[in-house]
Amino acid sequence: MDYRVLQSIAQLISKEISKVLVNVENEVKIMFATFLANGHVLVEGFPGLAKTSLVKAFARTLGLSFGRVQFTPDLLPSDITGSLVFNPRVGDFEVRLGPIFANVVLADEINRAPPKVQSALLEAMQEGQVTIGGRSYQLPRPFMVIATQNPIELEGTYPLPEAQLDRFMIRIRLGYPNEDVELRIANDIDLGDVTPVNTVLSKEDIINMQLLMRKVYVDDSIIRYIVNIVRATRNVHDIKLGASPRAAQVLSKLVRAWALINGRDYVIPDDVKQLTPYVLNHRIITIGDDPFRIISEILEKVPTPIMAKALGKGYNNE
Ligand SMILES: Nc1ncnc2c1ncn2[C@@H]1O[C@H](COP(=O)(O)OP(=O)(O)OP(=O)(O)O)[C@@H](O)[C@H]1O
Ligand SMILES: [Mg+2]
Repeated sequence: MDYRVLQSIAQLISKEISKVLVNVENEVKIMFATFLANGHVLVEGFPGLAKTSLVKAFARTLGLSFGRVQFTPDLLPSDITGSLVFNPRVGDFEVRLGPIFANVVLADEINRAPPKVQSALLEAMQEGQVTIGGRSYQLPRPFMVIATQNPIELEGTYPLPEAQLDRFMIRIRLGYPNEDVELRIANDIDLGDVTPVNTVLSKEDIINMQLLMRKVYVDDSIIRYIVNIVRATRNVHDIKLGASPRAAQVLSKLVRAWALINGRDYVIPDDVKQLTPYVLNHRIITIGDDPFRIISEILEKVPTPIMAKALGKGYNNE
């Protein structure tokens, strides 16, 4: 597979999803990058901003198995992971794997279930396996969790603790649409969900795409830039707790995917600038302020590298 194919695959995915959703191109693109980088996504937004629809449409285009768990106050960990059930025919217990055993898992309204249930999901995400009745079961690969949550602390919700937010590679915030977009949404009503979203990828494509990630050239100056940005979050007055080294690790992985999706096999400083808000917004604790504003101020302050050396030696590092 040639790396240039990825850009057109990303465009195809966006095109399929735009059949059913308006103005989500950027979100789709970043979700796809996170998928390539083996990460998980948290989608936040007020009710009715198409969180669930977005994830469902995205999973469909990938052509992978899809699991969905609706988080509710009475959900049990085993409703996610699975359990042993008695089979009277065999006269013994057998395992019934839960909905987490799918390539793409929608954890819808994750903050509506108690912490014990949230931990069951996050543990499985971390370890890539689940224990049922004393035996371990590997989760399928690729494996991606996309969780949604409503950001306002409604009655009966359990906000995810900071340490657990960190498990999500990125957090996307869906905002209210502008007037033009809202007109299109209102006009575009799909009477009865008839528009099909087509699958654009095969499993083989996906494995090949993930291999391409290794061929992306990341200059030393880019890595230094990423580290400088992350370190800068620890020296800002409005930030109570800055980002950890894991943030730098995640960012340097995600920029590779972003470069590929943008038709390049090398990372440029702009990739870092575009992705930083998605990677950092849930990894810093700010003093009553909008994390996005603080992050963009940091991006303005940290000097952008000039990749003269990299340009000299050419980008292809095969
Ligand atoms: N950008 C958009 N393009 C097209 N339709 C949209 C868009 N935003 C919202 N809608 C429509 O609004 C409705 C709500 O979508 P959905 O159920 O996915 O929202 P949600 O964010 O999951 O809401 P909740 O938090 O209540 O679960 C859907 O019918 C969807 O088609
Ligand atoms: Mg929903």
